[in-house]
Amino acid sequence: MSSEKHLRIPNLDPDFFILERDRVNLERFARLSERHPVNIMVTGSQGCGKSSLVRQFAAIYGRPLATFQVGLLAESGQLFGQQRLQSGETYFKEFLFSKAIQTPGCVIHLEEINRSETPHALNELFSVLSEDRSIWIDELGTVKVAPGVIFFATMNEGEKFTGVEEIDAALRDRFYYIQLEYLPHEVEKQVLVRKTGLSESGADRILNVINHIRTNEQAGVSVSIRHSLMIAELVSLGASLREALVYSLQISRDALESLLLSVHVQTQDTEAELDRYVVYVPESSPATEKVFQ
Ligand SMILES: Nc1ncnc2c1ncn2[C@@H]1O[C@H](COP(=O)(O)OP(=O)(O)OP(=O)(O)O)[C@@H](O)[C@H]1O
Ligand SMILES: [Mg+2]
Repeated sequence: MSSEKHLRIPNLDPDFFILERDRVNLERFARLSERHPVNIMVTGSQGCGKSSLVRQFAAIYGRPLATFQVGLLAESGQLFGQQRLQSGETYFKEFLFSKAIQTPGCVIHLEEINRSETPHALNELFSVLSEDRSIWIDELGTVKVAPGVIFFATMNEGEKFTGVEEIDAALRDRFYYIQLEYLPHEVEKQVLVRKTGLSESGADRILNVINHIRTNEQAGVSVSIRHSLMIAELVSLGASLREALVYSLQISRDALESLLLSVHVQTQDTEAELDRYVVYVPESSPATEKVFQ
């Protein structure tokens, strides 16, 4: 696959919401990046919109986006390239990271920067994120970060994440920060309505139940914006809210029932439960007649 294919300007999400002050400061970061490369760390809980924010930034400013899973790097030397063997000869295969940082204006998304398996893996990153903005790679020579490049690192923060290495203080020092929060009820409702086509009252009904689950700490069930969208999408296709919750939240039917009882909410479902076994063949097939109670 050619690297140009990876370095695409992403599509704009017409239904993405952020705090206005974040928008204003992102504009400043974009302008700063015209003077020198900029690093921005986006933190927030799982599924609160970190990756989407980076994508949206690239889309808004018409910049190519390249995403790298830092969490998967096990050692240094895995970002720039690798010795490969072809017809008995070794050659150095340059990776996308090297090309991306040398592409003017590129948005580079470093995902899960706090999850790299060994701190060593971050060494080469440190060089390109720190003042010199360049690194010597034996096989490539000096690789310099191109003008206008912006690095976005994303990181799941919060005590719910265990096994996450604290990232090095010296590395942390070199970032601007944006802390994303879950959206307020009214905004999340707009997201559900706009992205799934549900009515406002339909979205309200879902969010009322979800917000009860969210605020019930004993339940220990976290429901992200990703989850609320998944639930709303199922409901928009005719699922009952109970059904949508069970299929989206990795929660058993029984656990959900007791959770709903404990938070004193009704899902207001009217649909009959489909609690029986059927053969799984196309709907029109006569075999669907066979049901087992
Ligand atoms: N502010 C928002 N406005 C509209 N949609 C949003 C918003 N935040 C999140 N979403 C939607 O929620 C889903 C999850 O968002 P995203 O993948 O960006 O979260 P994340 O924080 O990167 O998650 P993870 O921690 O798993 O990496 C996406 O479908 C995204 O479009
Ligand atoms: Mg993400």
